[in-house]
Amino acid sequence: MNDTNSSTNSVTLVGNRMTESVDDYVAEFTASITFDKRMADQDINGSLAHAQMLHNQKLLADDDYQAIKDGLEEIRNEIREGKFQWSVALEDVHMNIEHALTQKIGLAGKRLHTGRSRNDQVATDIKLYLRDEIDHIISEILRLQTGIIALAENHTETIMPGFTHLQTAQPVSFAHHMMAYFEMFSRDKARFLDCKSRLNECPLGAAALAGTPFPLDRHLTAELLGFDKPTENSLDSVSDRDFAIEFCSATSIMMMHMSRLAEEMVLWTSIQFNFVSLPDKFCTGSSIMPQKKNPDVPELIRGKTGRVYGHLMSLLTLMKSQPLAYNKDNQEDKEPLFDTADTAKGCLRAFADMVPHMEPNVNVMLRASMEGYATATDFADYLVGKGLPFRDAYKVVGTAVSMAVSNKQGLAELSMDVLQSLHESIGPEIYQVLTQDASLSARRVYGGTAPETVAEAIQRAKAKM
Ligand code: ARG
Repeated sequence: MNDTNSSTNSVTLVGNRMTESVDDYVAEFTASITFDKRMADQDINGSLAHAQMLHNQKLLADDDYQAIKDGLEEIRNEIREGKFQWSVALEDVHMNIEHALTQKIGLAGKRLHTGRSRNDQVATDIKLYLRDEIDHIISEILRLQTGIIALAENHTETIMPGFTHLQTAQPVSFAHHMMAYFEMFSRDKARFLDCKSRLNECPLGAAALAGTPFPLDRHLTAELLGFDKPTENSLDSVSDRDFAIEFCSATSIMMMHMSRLAEEMVLWTSIQFNFVSLPDKFCTGSSIMPQKKNPDVPELIRGKTGRVYGHLMSLLTLMKSQPLAYNKDNQEDKEPLFDTADTAKGCLRAFADMVPHMEPNVNVMLRASMEGYATATDFADYLVGKGLPFRDAYKVVGTAVSMAVSNKQGLAELSMDVLQSLHESIGPEIYQVLTQDASLSARRVYGGTAPETVAEAIQRAKAKM
């Protein structure tokens, strides 16, 4: 924190009831400036709106309002240019900026806090901050989804084994598999939008906890800041952190999705699977084993999921049992929240860059889908077509698979004689039924893996974007 003045006795705080100045370590211990200064822009925007509303309500003279506006913009520039001197003695971003404003413009700066408290101010800042982060996250989700669609479009006929229990189940297309992630990220997007719509109420004007005697126009402040409306209850306004928890919850679910794709990428790029290659630029080597090409990016995303879950737990625990209204505990909301947003953005960026460049090893995947009797269900479905009840068909195919296993054969390698001994209705067309292509094409049900069906799903996905 080289731009933060850690000396705590350089500035006296407010002229309050205290007769002793705060202990240096207590000042440092209770300060949040080292992390909440990242909300400086939001804090200034909140102050500008509050000042404009005060002016509109004749609670602030023309020249005072003008001085506040100019002063705050000057401070914004100083912060942007790295010239602003942050001070631990001034505790947090709110006091730092207000103090600097008063240093600059004198008396007018001291009028800004009329009808406002840091309690409604900080709640507003976090909401403004989260709104921007959500917009950024949504645009990155869209970029990732665009990449998934581009990849899927080229692979509606690329066949791979679909798994349950990580055992070969039925053939699916690589496109179909990737589009499953498209769906997950669509739900994530919806959760972020939902979080944003619920948080979009303005706490300013709730003041410390009870509202204020000044005739504030809370609707105007809300409107100026792009909120849908002012919050309803002043106590709730300053003590609510649901929006932070919802944000971490939406992020946790999204990280869970990313960790599943990450895990598959780690498996698929292993020499044992060899389903997918990643361009070298997304991988790293080993300092001792020259042959290594490690999937560090997906591994890190998988790992970072844990810290986001941790932040969600932190916030839930932070808010648990807090009596109304504001408590200093709430200052602990910021670090988990900021790290959640940073982690989400970082992981999304890495994935959105990388996922479209996955190179499926088409032949390896196809061969893998031919092992493990992946079309056994197609065999049973075929017998159902011949009039057998599914449970009886299942038994016939079970016997066929067990014979094939003991002979170390594929199902399609069983002779016509053997097959007919299992059931007389089996004809030579069964060999076509047992191919991976036939298995895929048969699954034309809405949401199924047939190439044309997936192509349609991709079209719908594109239209949704
Ligand atoms: N830095 C504080 C926080 O992050 C701002 C609100 C402080 N309010 C108070 N009454 N101490 O929560």
